Amino acid sequence: MAASTDVFFRPFRIKSLDLPNRIVMAPMTRTFAPEGIPGAANAAYYRRRAEGGVGLILSEGTVIDRPASRNHPNIPFFHGDAALAGWKTVIDEIHAAGGKMAPQIWHTGSTKTATDWVPDVDVESPSGLLAPGRPRGVAMTEQDIEATIAAFAKAAADAKRLGFDTVEIHGAHGYLIDQFFWAGTNTREDGYGGATIAERSRFAVEVVKAVRAAVGPDFPVILRLSQWKQQDYSARLAATPDEMAAWLQPLVDAGADVLHCSQRRFWEPEFPEVDGENGLNFAGWAKELTGAATISVGSVGLSGEFIAAFGGETSQRTDLDKLVERMERDEFDLIAVGRALISDADWVKKVQAGDGEGLKGFSPAALAELV
Ligand SMILES: Cc1cc2nc3c(=O)[nH]c(=O)nc-3n(C[C@H](O)[C@H](O)[C@H](O)COP(=O)(O)O)c2cc1C
Repeated sequence: MAASTDVFFRPFRIKSLDLPNRIVMAPMTRTFAPEGIPGAANAAYYRRRAEGGVGLILSEGTVIDRPASRNHPNIPFFHGDAALAGWKTVIDEIHAAGGKMAPQIWHTGSTKTATDWVPDVDVESPSGLLAPGRPRGVAMTEQDIEATIAAFAKAAADAKRLGFDTVEIHGAHGYLIDQFFWAGTNTREDGYGGATIAERSRFAVEVVKAVRAAVGPDFPVILRLSQWKQQDYSARLAATPDEMAAWLQPLVDAGADVLHCSQRRFWEPEFPEVDGENGLNFAGWAKELTGAATISVGSVGLSGEFIAAFGGETSQRTDLDKLVERMERDEFDLIAVGRALISDADWVKKVQAGDGEGLKGFSPAALAELV
């Protein structure tokens, strides 16, 4: 018999944020914001997930006010009156449905998508590299860096002003902030580069500090991080627990309350050589090393992982027993669910009702519309 999922339905509180359960909707870019403006269809899409019982909704990545902060024309802005008015409608609808939500604030750095679209100014990144040895765009000046940090802070202040419950900074997956972390894309010789992960974290630390200053002490700040990069799935920023502590502790000290530790499969141990094949995952180690609250993620309820889904792979539904086990030992505080919530806005309600049979798998066809 499948394990009871009661452990997902314990409330969680951090600072001013009160959640009824531990299930978070993972941030997912949908490219359904024409001209960068979220509209009624986007608000209704998120509202259905709030009505479906999601504890905390993280928006798709939504970009800060920099000339080349996005890599696709239908990614929403998180700046400018029209886009912010759209986001205000989104959060008001979420609250009307009893939900909680954060925008995921983002800068795509020098990444590109499969489309031919490019911003009309050069893309920017720490060293003008897309990946090790692959030049693209320009290296940021110190003035660019300062303006970018200010733009993250402004976006966070706007999130709070519009009524969002918390904010997530996207520091993962090989986008701008992660390009500073990664030695392969940060070859700077000034104070934003360096041989150690602690040195290359300076940009992120300054972003977090500026965001913290902008939102005040009681508004929770979430920071999303990953070892892997879209440019290299096997890349790692921290090869040992000591390196991981040197990476994460300054970010927590700077004001990150929650670390959202992105993995493609939540059950994979981060350092199996230390604590075995059933050892702590990334979120588990992050919590253990820093004491911060953490969110885990990756293939919850599904047989296949999400990068393969972009390649057209369908996933079957799977049981949640391994997740229950890890949550019962409080390895991490919250669990993010991505594709399963694209397929089914009522996924949480069905899990709570024990309706395992009613859960769907994931088919990439579901990405074609906003339902
Ligand atoms: C369509 C799609 C878009 C995504 N966009 C983002 C994004 O904007 N920001 C982000 O941090 N992760 C993004 N991700 C990664 C998800 O947040 C999540 O980490 C990943 O899908 C693994 O969770 P899952 O296996 O439950 O789908 C995206 C994933 C998918 C499938």
